[in-house]
Amino acid sequence: MFDALKRHWDAQKQQPIMALFEAKNRAEQFSVQADDLLLDYSKTQIDAIAREGLLDLAQARGLKERRSDMFQGAALNETEGRAVLHSALRNLDGPDVFVNGHNVMPDVQEALQRMTRFSEDLRRGRFQGPGGPITDIVNIGIGGSDLGPAMACLALAPYHDGPKCHFVSNVDGAHLHDILQNLDPTRSLFIIASKTFTTIETMTNAQTAKAWLAQHVTDPGAQFVALSTAQEKTKAFGIAAERVFGFADWVGGRYSLWGPIGLSLMLAIGPNAFREFLRGAQSMDRHFCTAELSQNMPVMLALVGLWHHQVCGFATRAVLPYEQRLSRLPAYLQQLEMESNGKRVDMNGQDLPYPSGPVVWGEPGTNGQHAFYQLIHQGTAVVPCEFMVAREGHEASLDTHHRLLIANCLAQSEALMRGRTLEQARQLMIAQGLSGHELERQARHRVFPGNRPSTTLIYPRLSPFVLGQIIALYEHRVFAEGVILGINSFDQWGVELGKELARDMEQLLSGAASAADKDGSTQRLLDYIRTAQS
Ligand code: F6P
Repeated sequence: MFDALKRHWDAQKQQPIMALFEAKNRAEQFSVQADDLLLDYSKTQIDAIAREGLLDLAQARGLKERRSDMFQGAALNETEGRAVLHSALRNLDGPDVFVNGHNVMPDVQEALQRMTRFSEDLRRGRFQGPGGPITDIVNIGIGGSDLGPAMACLALAPYHDGPKCHFVSNVDGAHLHDILQNLDPTRSLFIIASKTFTTIETMTNAQTAKAWLAQHVTDPGAQFVALSTAQEKTKAFGIAAERVFGFADWVGGRYSLWGPIGLSLMLAIGPNAFREFLRGAQSMDRHFCTAELSQNMPVMLALVGLWHHQVCGFATRAVLPYEQRLSRLPAYLQQLEMESNGKRVDMNGQDLPYPSGPVVWGEPGTNGQHAFYQLIHQGTAVVPCEFMVAREGHEASLDTHHRLLIANCLAQSEALMRGRTLEQARQLMIAQGLSGHELERQARHRVFPGNRPSTTLIYPRLSPFVLGQIIALYEHRVFAEGVILGINSFDQWGVELGKELARDMEQLLSGAASAADKDGSTQRLLDYIRTAQS
């Protein structure tokens, strides 16, 4: 599928990216705008021929048709027989959406109204704990039931005017322990966020939290809320129906932030700001559905990703937000991208003849510059970098900081592209008074190969609306990549085997079963742990 593009890449890969700027208006022609967002992909090796080939591929793989299917409620998640309709959760004033002939919008609107009423009650002190108004919320969930709300709560810190939100995900008791330590049990609310209400980490943390609460209050169940599709299970846990916020199975875990799983975010920033967040996403949905493919931001971001990974063979992708409050974004995108497109077979179960999605990683700038950027600039592996930065920050009095932040972001993408030749490095050494063998030796360490690709996303300011746009942008990017690769981006069977084995392993650890049929390595590790315990 990528053969022609690969031949093109082989033929032009020695050409410096800088040389591409000799063509008039490259920056304008290799960038896309959606509302106030600007995505620049001109600092990549993509030229007009490559872009044409990539766009042809998107057409040929039926991206437009699959996009309509998704928004119209078709069962795109074929291995689970489910529609993929997270976009319906932010379809605030759009058309009706049908799944199997049933209009889902009244249910979506009702769920949003219930969340709004509950948030207002809690934020205004009408819903209280035994000790008074709720001051602390603890969201217990993992994966999509944690990463989305945790990332967004941190991102929108300047908009917080509600209770403090904490997030517990890890089954490591230390996570819950350290948070409980600082809570007033009489003024805390626990949100159990789990689509399935069976996830072992979440259910273990939920039971422990309940037991802890029972030591301090007479009716611990009254301080729990459930966000789940499994109403029977939430009842069995002891959570009253009026505090259960359900959602349909056509919302995938890693796409669920827009509905009840976003309750902690709504409690923190309030229903109005939460609606702005939905509006931002809805605006990106509209752009994705209507913009020409070549002017379509999620599509172009997807094509740049495919170009780098499947065509150029770059194994990983770094996400580098120059925005401290987006420090959980790389982790969020890891789940979104790697759980969605880390698949070894296509829709029909046939082996993929090309690599699936890339490894995604990253950290905010400028911190990363003082840690791993060394490898990005001079290591042997090329890492395409995705920079992002706001035109302005929230801290008006700290303007100098923001100027420096932007300057660093732009400087990094320029340095990656431009590099420094051996001759330029020599001149530097000569200026420092070096000569002869020492000059040659030192100069080689100061060479930057350059020609390293990056994209830059600029947004006005990290408001709820803009965050909604950015997250929806990435969701649709992952979808578009998945469609072109022929992958089902909406299941996650790869997480199951480890879960099954962990259940067995727990039996072995407690001595309830024999480890005789385990491999030598596992037996030795178990022996070591058991010996230390006894
Ligand atoms: O194990 C993976 C996974 O199923 C994710 O897809 C999901 O986001 C996470 O676990 C949590 O699942 P749940 O919301 O059902 O507890």
